[in-house]
Amino acid sequence: MIDHHTIELGVNVDHIATLRQARGVSYPDPTQAADIARQAGADGVTVHLREDRRHIQDYDVDNIRDNVALPMNLEMAATAQMLEIAKRVGPHECCLVPEKREELTTEGGLNIIDQIAHLRDYIAELKAKGIRVSLFIDPDQAQIDASKKVGADIVELHTGTYAEAQGQALRAELDRIKIGARHAHRLGLQVNAGHGLHYQNVAPIAAIPELVCLNIGHSIVARAAMTGFYEAVHTMKQQMNGARLESEGQGL
Ligand code: PXP
Repeated sequence: MIDHHTIELGVNVDHIATLRQARGVSYPDPTQAADIARQAGADGVTVHLREDRRHIQDYDVDNIRDNVALPMNLEMAATAQMLEIAKRVGPHECCLVPEKREELTTEGGLNIIDQIAHLRDYIAELKAKGIRVSLFIDPDQAQIDASKKVGADIVELHTGTYAEAQGQALRAELDRIKIGARHAHRLGLQVNAGHGLHYQNVAPIAAIPELVCLNIGHSIVARAAMTGFYEAVHTMKQQMNGARLESEGQGL
């Protein structure tokens, strides 16, 4: 049955870690951000542990699992190293994504058709540990069919092309996502979507009745930086003024 009334939000906190890694310090902390997301009504937290560890680190994955009362979706490439990590960590869900070292972010969905045997075994190992498995794919019927064939529980439909398209191409891509969502749902797969969704383009996607969860990261972190900027500057100025007043009071 489709629940037309609720849709879940999985908050991706990767780019909180991006800010931290830019300085090599201990803040801002993605675990703290994940807990704030929980308080704000998020239904899950997503982290992408990349092979190059450019943002999320192994200890973040452990910290979030141990300290944040939300289901964790661990995004990762289908490699042997990641399989060991996922089995040790035991997230609620793993989302398998394609990964190239040079890319700025995940470009395009995973090609399931090209690696049926590998993914079937890989998914079976994760499922044996009680982990639900999601495949990040383009909204393409053949990829959806292949996802079912390899034993996935969930498909996450890639909305990156939709996010970049305009005019007629945008409407065509939205239709492709709607048709894909319906098809995957009919096959008994849970259907999620994500990538490139922001405050201006999320509404038509959130309205698709078969979609259970949207995973959103960059736009939320970007908005947080802007909505929090006034307070951050104001507090710094107050602390500086306070310190100067105090030193004058002490006759320094
Ligand atoms: N879903 C998947 C599978 C992703 O790889 C990403 C980006 O890491 C997202 C969702 C979130 O994308 P964005 O940061 O553009 O919201």
